Amino acid sequence: MVIQSFEVKKMTIEPINFMATMVRRVQLTDEDKSLLAEAAPWGKEIAPQMADTFYDYLGRDEEMNAILNATEGRIHRLHQTFVDWFYEMFTGMDSWGKAYAERRWKIGLVHVRIGIGPQHVVPAMAVVVNAVRQKLREANKSEALSDALGKICMIDLAFIEQAYFEVSSQAVLKETGWTQALFQRLIATGAAAM
Ligand code: HEM
Repeated sequence: MVIQSFEVKKMTIEPINFMATMVRRVQLTDEDKSLLAEAAPWGKEIAPQMADTFYDYLGRDEEMNAILNATEGRIHRLHQTFVDWFYEMFTGMDSWGKAYAERRWKIGLVHVRIGIGPQHVVPAMAVVVNAVRQKLREANKSEALSDALGKICMIDLAFIEQAYFEVSSQAVLKETGWTQALFQRLIATGAAAM
C-alpha cells in the first residue's frame, strides 16, 4: 500500500523502492535469483554474442542506426556496456539490491536523455528475450532459468519505461508549476478526449 501511494503521488522514484515493487509484481523469487546466479558464468560467456545480435538488430532500423552512429565511438562503447548489462542480470550486482536498482535507473535516464522512448526500447527488449531463449534452448538450459531471465528483463525494461514517464512528468510540472493532482486530472481528461 505504501509503495502504491508513493507511486501515484510522488513523481521522482526511489530506485530501490521501485525495484522492490517490480520484483513483487513480476514475481522474481529467491529461486529465480539462485538460478540466475548459478548461470552467471554461462551468461558471461554468451554476453558478447548477445551484444552482436542486439546491435545488428538496432542497426537494421534506420532511425535507431542514426542514433547509434551519432557520435564517434558510440557503438563501440555500447557493445561493452551491453555486455556488462547482460552479465549483471545474472549476478544481480549486489543481489538485485540498491546498486542494481540505481544502475538500472541510471540506464533509464541515459536513454531518456537521448530521446529513446517506448517504441524503441520495448521491441529491443523483445529481441533480447527471444535471442536469450534461443541460446538457452541450444545449451539445453532449463525452462526455469528461461523464466527467471524473462522476469529480470521485464524489470530492467520497466526501469527504462518508468524513467521516461518520470522525466516527462517532472519536466511538465517544473515548467508549469502545476500540482500533481492537476496534472493527473489533465491526463485523464486528455485520455478521455482521444
Ligand atoms: C533492451 C533495451 C536496451 C538496453 C538493455 C540498453 C542498454 C544500454 C546501456 C547499459 C547503456 C549504457 C548506459 C550508461 O552509460 O550508463 C546504454 C546506452 C545507450 N543506448 Fe541503450 N539499451 C537498450 C535499448 C537501446 C535502444 C533501443 C537504443 C536505440 C538506438 C539504444 C541506444 C543507446 C545509446 C545511444 C546509448 C548512449 C551511448 C553513449 O554513451 O553515447 N539503446 N544502453
